[in-house]
Amino acid sequence: MAAGGSTVNKHREPGRRRLGEAPNSRVVVANSGGSFQDALDDFLELRSVAASSGDALHAQPQMVSRFYDVVTKFYEHAWGKSFHFAPRQSGENLHDAQRRQEADVAEILGLGPSSNVLDIGCGVGGPLINIAKCSGASITGLNFNAYQIERGWKALRKAGGGGSSFLLANYLDVPLADGCFDAAYSFEAICHAPDRNRCLAEIRRLLKPGGQIALTEWALTSRFDEQNSAHRGIRDRIEFGNATPDLPTTSEFEAVVETAGFEVHSSRDLAVESDPDFPWYRALQGRDVSLASLARIPAGRWLTGKATALFERLRVAPAGTSEASRVLNIAADALVEGGEAGIFTPCFLVHASKSR
Ligand SMILES: C[S@@+](CC[C@H](N)C(=O)[O-])C[C@H]1O[C@@H](n2cnc3c(N)ncnc32)[C@H](O)[C@@H]1O
Repeated sequence: MAAGGSTVNKHREPGRRRLGEAPNSRVVVANSGGSFQDALDDFLELRSVAASSGDALHAQPQMVSRFYDVVTKFYEHAWGKSFHFAPRQSGENLHDAQRRQEADVAEILGLGPSSNVLDIGCGVGGPLINIAKCSGASITGLNFNAYQIERGWKALRKAGGGGSSFLLANYLDVPLADGCFDAAYSFEAICHAPDRNRCLAEIRRLLKPGGQIALTEWALTSRFDEQNSAHRGIRDRIEFGNATPDLPTTSEFEAVVETAGFEVHSSRDLAVESDPDFPWYRALQGRDVSLASLARIPAGRWLTGKATALFERLRVAPAGTSEASRVLNIAADALVEGGEAGIFTPCFLVHASKSR
């Protein structure tokens, strides 16, 4: 399994070399490349560099992109084309709930055929394709992971394209003119930002005056208690396993949006709107049994761990695959614990507009 497009020198040290760039250089785009093991090694190395070097602004995006080089094929296998959780109604499966949430965002933003829209951290394009289809809008999918962009183009071409496209860029530093979008949305992408203020300032710059945003993001709820070591442990494992350092609380996230110069119209935790028997984290639990959910639930994840270890020994899967599966398991278990304890939500929705 090649993680990305281009071949790179196995002996390079991407994190350290790029960290040596002039402090005022553009925030780099970390391109996918090399073998699966390269991506995993880079991710693990960059994770400690980002935490200790004091240069998270450069190291963290590279670390996150290498994380997605490692996990994207697992995600595509387990999640399909949309990599976000969704509040679920009674009996609703994950994919239907995702489609419904994506359509809700289109409606909240009032998107139509004349809308020019930015999808911030677009993954492999599932939400973009669905929102473009249900609204007729032209959407630019912004993502700094080259492999995901390649997958996005393939899916978009298959779906018919319309006026939508993808842009390989870091959302901290987007090479587009001021005021070029009517609206912007994100699903679970700003949680990776090393500097949320800078990210929101950049989104604001790209919007026309009055332009609206709908951000569905990861946050700690008001039930999270920093003094509680069990809570801290769950948070730390969520952050560790998902490359989401420094999760904000819901109120901190909303404050960042306001400080960036947006007028907040509404904010709400969609997690509490799920049917009690169908919480968002059910997608990762054993009770969500179906063929489509098999790769997400504990038994399926256990099987994947065993199978990847075997395939790796047989050299059918690339080196590092079973370690990646282990990290993803830590992440999934911690997310379920965070959901059960009510201290974490992956779907805190803020609807706001750029103040004139
Ligand atoms: C959890 S995935 C969600 C993807 C997509 N929104 C979806 O719901 O299917 C987070 C996405 O954010 C992107 N991302 C993270 N940091 C980014 C950055 N600094 N610039 C651009 N994209 C970024 C990742 O590459 C990934 O595609």
